[in-house]
Amino acid sequence: MIQRLIPLFLTLALPALAQDGGQLFRLYCSACHGADGKGATGGAFPPLAGSPWVGGDPDRSVKIVLHGLHGPVDVMGKTYNLEMPPQGAMLPDDQIAAILTFVRTSWGNQATPVTTEFVQATRTATRDRNTAWTAGEILKLHPLPLEKTALTHLISQVYAGKWSELPDFSTLKAVNVEEEHDGILTVTDSPLKDSFAMIWQADFQAPADGEYTFLLDADDAAHVIIDGKSVVQVQGTGPMNGSRAKQEKATLTKGTHKFRVEYLEISGNKGITLGWKAPATRNWNWLSDHKGDSGTTREAIPIEPVDGRPVIYRNFIAGTTSRAIGVGFPGGLNLAYSADNLAPALLWTGDFIDGARKWTDRGTDTSPPAGENLVKLAHSRAFPESARFRGYKLDPAGNPTFSVQIGEQILLDSWRAETGTLIRKLTVSGSHLDLQLSQPPELIIEGAAGNSTLKLTSGQPVTLTYRWK
Ligand code: HEC
Repeated sequence: MIQRLIPLFLTLALPALAQDGGQLFRLYCSACHGADGKGATGGAFPPLAGSPWVGGDPDRSVKIVLHGLHGPVDVMGKTYNLEMPPQGAMLPDDQIAAILTFVRTSWGNQATPVTTEFVQATRTATRDRNTAWTAGEILKLHPLPLEKTALTHLISQVYAGKWSELPDFSTLKAVNVEEEHDGILTVTDSPLKDSFAMIWQADFQAPADGEYTFLLDADDAAHVIIDGKSVVQVQGTGPMNGSRAKQEKATLTKGTHKFRVEYLEISGNKGITLGWKAPATRNWNWLSDHKGDSGTTREAIPIEPVDGRPVIYRNFIAGTTSRAIGVGFPGGLNLAYSADNLAPALLWTGDFIDGARKWTDRGTDTSPPAGENLVKLAHSRAFPESARFRGYKLDPAGNPTFSVQIGEQILLDSWRAETGTLIRKLTVSGSHLDLQLSQPPELIIEGAAGNSTLKLTSGQPVTLTYRWK
């Protein structure tokens, strides 16, 4: 109670002043993190001074302050395994912003201020969260900033000449060669203004085995080559505004790879944007001074099941009709049901939907399924024109049942997920019904005996299980 009165008093006493982050820090954080940010009681608590957790992307620290943190966490070479209680109910957005701005700019920390709007947006985006984060959850969403880029031994070479496509560099002589110690590609401080080409060569340090994503945009042309293989290319003349940006995947083993980027500036503006994502991560790491902008690289806002209940998504989903109902089941199984075709349309595994495209307005663009193993089921309408979609209901566990009326008959189509399989129960009332079943080759469907027509009898439900081969 006392704790609630203090911020109220401060807000009343200082109506026109910005929140004093330092004072709020001493009130709400220093008991554990120390007035000097080094961790109270001789470092029994983790430090905020110098902690990469508070640097870079402010998402990490905002989420930790809102909902708390528990379980093992590594901070500057030491593992803590404690509990930080959530502060979100006690501290309003402007106070959290002020405290974190103070933390990010004190004791030698040098990070950008945190705005009230940012805290507010994060609070809204995570409003269903009612448990403390684990360090793993936070890192999956917001990896720690890399101290250096993945490029070491980066050397740039500049070539003068007029070309309309990337030239054959093997016959050319460089006019300028430089070592780029920061591991960052830049063309803005090139010695030539127009009509030049460049090569960067470096060692790319891949942190893990797996599939990497590379994003390239350039004004004008550019080409990324790893271990002698073409990975991603932007051709011809044009602006660097995302419209010509390309994303490609490359499978790399953990360790060092020969990295080569070729670039061509024809005339006018110049620039290069190059980013990469490590396997199974969401954030871009930038290898260029210019970082990608919102269109192609805005940060993901994953929509995911909460507390073991499926999540429903009502918006345009790529690959199906405009009236689709997305269902993200716990365990990484996902369904899009088409209310136009009166049938399940898509199944996929892994992440459900990235809400970032729709965060500010509904818009007209479609969101692609965010996960993997996408399978298309129905491509067209399952029943005659007279059939009607009658909506869907959720059972107490949050699992949907879609209903379709075909003349006098009602078809109930229920879905739930269980350890890697989707279980579909079909019930018809009225007379019997022949249901066309699509059997994509990627799936094993049990309960249909390999038939593409399922004969449903009134009052005798049929259960099908769907699993990926
Ligand atoms: C009751 C003690 C306590 C209070 C109060 C507290 N924290 Fe924490 N904080 C912790 C503990 C303990 C951890 C580590 C939790 C773990 O091991 O899982 C932590 C971790 C963190 C981390 C991530 C690790 C690091 O060291 O960078 C940040 C950031 C953080 N706290 C910020 C804050 C801020 C800002 C406040 C004030 C609004 C605050 N904490 C208030 C105990 C506290």
